Formats: sequence, C-alpha cells, structure tokens
Amino acid sequence: MNSLKHSVKESDHFKHLWMPFTYYNDQIENPPLVIERGEGVYIFDQSGKRYMDAIGSWWTSIFGHNHPYITNAVKTQLDKIEHVMMAGFISEPALRLSKLLGAILPGNLQRIFYSDDGSTAVEVALKIALQYHALRNDTRSEFVSFDGGYHGDTLGAMSVGSIPAYHALFHDTFKKQHFANSPYCYRCPVGCVKEQCNAECMDSLEALLQSRGEKIAACIFEPMVQGAVGMRVYPSKVLKRIFSLCKKYNVLTIADEVAMGLGRTGKLYACDHAEQTPDIMCLAKGLTGGYLPLSATVVSESIFDEFKGTFGSDRIFNHGHTFTGNPLATAAACAAINLLQISNIPESLDAICRQFADGVQAFDKYDVVGDIRVLGLVGAMEIVRDRKTKESPRTESRFTWRVSQKALDMGLIIRPLGNILYFMPPFITSKEQLDEMFFITNKALKETLDEQYTVI
Ligand SMILES: Cc1ncc(COP(=O)(O)O)c(C=O)c1O
Repeated sequence: MNSLKHSVKESDHFKHLWMPFTYYNDQIENPPLVIERGEGVYIFDQSGKRYMDAIGSWWTSIFGHNHPYITNAVKTQLDKIEHVMMAGFISEPALRLSKLLGAILPGNLQRIFYSDDGSTAVEVALKIALQYHALRNDTRSEFVSFDGGYHGDTLGAMSVGSIPAYHALFHDTFKKQHFANSPYCYRCPVGCVKEQCNAECMDSLEALLQSRGEKIAACIFEPMVQGAVGMRVYPSKVLKRIFSLCKKYNVLTIADEVAMGLGRTGKLYACDHAEQTPDIMCLAKGLTGGYLPLSATVVSESIFDEFKGTFGSDRIFNHGHTFTGNPLATAAACAAINLLQISNIPESLDAICRQFADGVQAFDKYDVVGDIRVLGLVGAMEIVRDRKTKESPRTESRFTWRVSQKALDMGLIIRPLGNILYFMPPFITSKEQLDEMFFITNKALKETLDEQYTVI
C-alpha cells in the first residue's frame, strides 16, 4: 500500500472525517487518497502519482480537470466578487449564464431556476410541479417514477428514488410515491428480449396512470440511462412511450438530466434521443464543467405563467438557497457552456464515441461479463457468475471493487456501482487515453479473475 495512505490514516485530520457512501472498515483499510492537483483527464496525489479519472469525478468533469479556460473564468470572477444573494440582486455571470443557457435549452423550456446540486434541482422540480397544480386549483399531489431510479439524497428526491440500498431504510418516512417498472433490458421486468421490445415494460406506467393519473402531479425519470443503479441504458422507444403516456394521461414530465444532460449521451440532452422536450428539466453535474456546485431547474413559459403574481398573492415560488446563482459557480458555467459551443459538442464527439463503444464492447470476451451497455460516453459492463443464468456474483466476493482497487494501483479510477464496472470519461479524453483506460481495466480484470475466478 502507498505510504501516503498510511500517513492519512494516522493523521489527526482523518479521525474527524465521515466519508460519503463508504463503509467505516474500508475507510480504515483503504483511506482516501489525498489529491493535490488535476490536469486534463488526470489527477495527482501528494506523492505525484498520476491517476486517470475515467468516471470524471462523479460524472461532472466533462472538460477534464483544471481546464485553462474555465479556471481562468473563475479566477477572473474571484477578483471581482465571490458571492451576492440572488434576491433584489443578481451577479453579472448569473445573468450572463441565463442568456447562454437559454439559447441552448430545448423547445419551449426558457425559465431557469438556479440551485446548488442535482438533489436540490430535483427538489425544486417537484415543488414547482406541486405548486403549479395547486395554483390551478388542482389537487394532484403524488409522483410517479421508476424502480431503479435515482434522483438525489435529500428526502424529497429520495422519495422518488427506488434503489433499495439507498432508499429502503427511509421509505416509511417519505411521502408515498408510485413506481413503474425499471427499463432494465438485461433483466427485462416483463420478460421481453431486446430485439422484439416494444416498450412493454411501460405497461406498468400505463396501469399506474390509468388508476392514479388524476392524482399524479408529475412523472420523473432519468432519460435513456438509469445511472446510479448501474448505467441501465434503455432504448429511445421506451423514453418515447413514457412521454406519450404522460401526454395521454395529462401528466407533467420531469426529465432528470442531472447526469446525462449536456452531451454525455452523444446528444445535447438525453431526451433528444426521443425527440421530446419535457415540461421540466433538471441540470447539474457538468453544468460548471465539474468546477463548482450549481444546478438549474428549467421550465416552460406556460408553467412559469402560473407563478406570475402580484404582491400578496400566492403566485410566488417561496424557495431559494443561500448560494443560489453564486457568481463563481455561474462564471464557471458560462465558460463550460461556451466550451460546449466552441468545441461543437456533441457532434464533435462522434469519433471518440465510436472508439469508446468498440473498446467497451471488447469486454464481451470475458465470461463474467453478462451485459455491455453503451450510449455516447457512458459505458458499462454487468458482472455475473454465470452468463446463462445471469446469476450475480456473491456479495462477499466484492469482485468489481477488487478490480477497481487493482486499477487504482495501476493509475486508473473506475469506482464501480455494485456489480457494474463503468466508464464516464471526460469529453476531452484522447484516443491514446481511451486505449490506456481499456488496457488498465483489462489487466485489472484479468488479474482479479486469475486470483478469484472460483469465488466470484
Ligand atoms: C440522475 C441524478 N439525479 C440527481 C442526482 C443528485 O445529484 P447531486 O449528487 O449533485 O445532489 C444524481 C447524482 O448522481 C443523479 O445521477
């Protein structure tokens, strides 16, 4: 083990740390690496060891680390003002961002409400949907979403999520919501095979909307990929059916594009794969190029119309966060949106996406790889004990975790999601860097298999 890890373990600083999504034992046995700097797709620890960040620091770092253009935008803003409240005042970059973002928003989505992260963007979306109906004297107060869905870790966002490991403990505390089937093609909930799929998994959504439709304030979904549950990529026909059912039953759509928006899936928005525009959309993660926390909940003008009130009326959205529209974060976001445009993203990603897809598909040669899922620059493989039965690895084998630990030693970050190994590389990853990413992953996978095949 790296000597620096020991120094972290023994330091007083470490005693006070509570790490997210981390077992205490792991925290002790594999203390976090202390990262000192970043450059492009790489980050460097205090000893100078280099790691390729193949998951873009939790899917945010779309232009790599310490990109000179974004760094400079934040530095320039820092010399002017660090923060101003967004009530009665607005910072120049927050205003500039509204114009820049407004110009690339789809369809009639034009009104932008800023908050701090993906979870708060979802909270805002849910509250807007509820209040929108209330303002129209409609009592709709429930939401429908999907098994396997993830929308953040705050209570409202968790109430529309359905990943047992994250949500089960709290389900009794939440307001009760409704969950349709997960569009999980590898283990199709209604037994269809991919080639003959007609989005039958969404019959469950139709049944819910038929029985509860008049009570449903909105349907919230992750378009094209259910991310946190394990990069479940699903066909655009399923997304189309979600939209058409919501339209049929007059239910608002909330597209949670927090992870997949702004180019990740090879289109600017994941909803573009179905040529649809939601009523409400949430953006975060890559919005600042991964520099600073910022999110946006965007709505159509017809929704905003309901909130146009005069003093004393209830036509006001009483919601805001201390750091809403923070100047440093919005300056970073302006630079990130500029970069998206200057670099002609997503069109310019075509070649790297093709190479990426080929590289991920090549893992099919391993018997333990049961399913490969790729869309744009999202690539995942589901590990199984047995390809025929699709039996999952034994929990105690910690197979994917072991692969990722080996990869880390070799200088690659691929923190897994359960039994899923995945890649979400920055858009600026070069051909050679993709080769390096696949080379190390292959080596780590092979070595883990050589040591562990019988226990998986
Ligand atoms: C689809 C989706 N929505 C919401 C969130 C929550 O975002 P945050 O962690 O920034 O609160 C995430 C985070 O992974 C996500 O993937």
